Amino acid sequence: MRILVVGGGAREHALVWKIAQSPLVDALYAAPGNPGIARHAACVPVAADAVADLVAFATRERMDLVVVGPEAPLVAGLADRLEAAGVAVFGPGASAARIEGSKAFAKDLMARHGVPTARFATFDDPPRARRYCRELGAPVVVKADGLAAGKGALVCRTLAEADEAVAECMERRAFGTAGATVVVEEFLTGEEVSFFALANGADATPLAAAQDHKTVFDGDRGPNTGGMGAFSPVAAFDAALEKQVMETIVRPTIAALAREGAPYRGALFAGLMLTADGPRVLEFNCRFGDPECQALVVRAPGDLVPALLAAARGEPWPAPAAWPARAAVSVTLASGGYPGKYATGLPIEGVDAAAARPGVTVFHAGTALAGGRLVTAGGRVLSVTAVGEDLARAIAAAYGAVGEIRFEGMHHRTDIGRRAVRAEAPPRR
Ligand code: AMP
Ligand code: GLY
Repeated sequence: MRILVVGGGAREHALVWKIAQSPLVDALYAAPGNPGIARHAACVPVAADAVADLVAFATRERMDLVVVGPEAPLVAGLADRLEAAGVAVFGPGASAARIEGSKAFAKDLMARHGVPTARFATFDDPPRARRYCRELGAPVVVKADGLAAGKGALVCRTLAEADEAVAECMERRAFGTAGATVVVEEFLTGEEVSFFALANGADATPLAAAQDHKTVFDGDRGPNTGGMGAFSPVAAFDAALEKQVMETIVRPTIAALAREGAPYRGALFAGLMLTADGPRVLEFNCRFGDPECQALVVRAPGDLVPALLAAARGEPWPAPAAWPARAAVSVTLASGGYPGKYATGLPIEGVDAAAARPGVTVFHAGTALAGGRLVTAGGRVLSVTAVGEDLARAIAAAYGAVGEIRFEGMHHRTDIGRRAVRAEAPPRR
């Protein structure tokens, strides 16, 4: 098989690393890829959002499967264009990708089909949005409807903050047209879990759960980032809860999209809050999570390609393999200043020594080669990932490897997965 992976971050490196191990694969490409991906795949200089160029490459080079990592090209219709050209694609068409591309669409779909989620209403008029914030009372959450690079959900502790959030989204257009419509919703408390399932248009099969660490500093402090680390599995998310989420959230959502003429093929990422009243959907994403994907793939059993193909082609699922009991953790190494301004082009040392440690894989996020040297090229630079017999061992292995790596200004969280090991209660927000 000839496979193209679209994207160039650590999530795509993890997918390429896993796909490259499949005996089904003859040729593996990535667009645009990165220096880590280049060890397993031929990197093609086409941007992940260059829809027409990606379709041209996939048809010219006769791809049997295209696996799309990021959401933007899916929301822009990459999967529809590939399908029209006769290329199988892992990732939903634009109409189904609206589940991530429009929070109002996702919330309305859930409301119509009884999928448990926070109480909400949708507004394109600021005074009405402010009035509804008062009806719900603080704390309350204001969300830009459209794609906002993970920054569009504003958790407001007071009504004054909520008024400010409405102004920021709707009046000052901090997220451009993505904030012209907002969803205002009830604030939920509990443990947050990222749950991943695969869908083939008609039906879904579970993968696994992970937990992300979104803020830049230890103890869930500081501004939000793209993700500073993740671990998998999540102890609270046991087999019974997985079954409940599949039956009450994932399968009804996939069935609803199919009935409404938007069959969903690809990975469905349910961002869940495990509340005292049961799991509630915070958001859906139309792709794997980053850094959750890195922790998932290193502990995933067997060959992932048959499942990706079944999803893409709308075929029955291969016999599920049991996930081994081992745990995985990924730690993001970030550039100095991230998630604010940061420098790039700084030399990176120690990646090979880190990767040589048992159980460790170093996935590249924002790296480049300059004169044959590996240098920084983004805010999130590396995703140091380790598997172990249990979470404590995986954490020890990952941080041992982190200790081998150096670049100027490098920073990372030191507490990825630690709260789960201590099994403390989640901090109050
Ligand atoms: P979202 O982009 O919708 O996943 O929101 C980003 C983050 O905001 C989530 O990961 C949560 O930490 C937080 N959040 C979103 N919605 C809610 C909610 N209804 N209650 C509490 N926290 C929320
Ligand atoms: N880690 C969260 C996301 O990928 O959206």
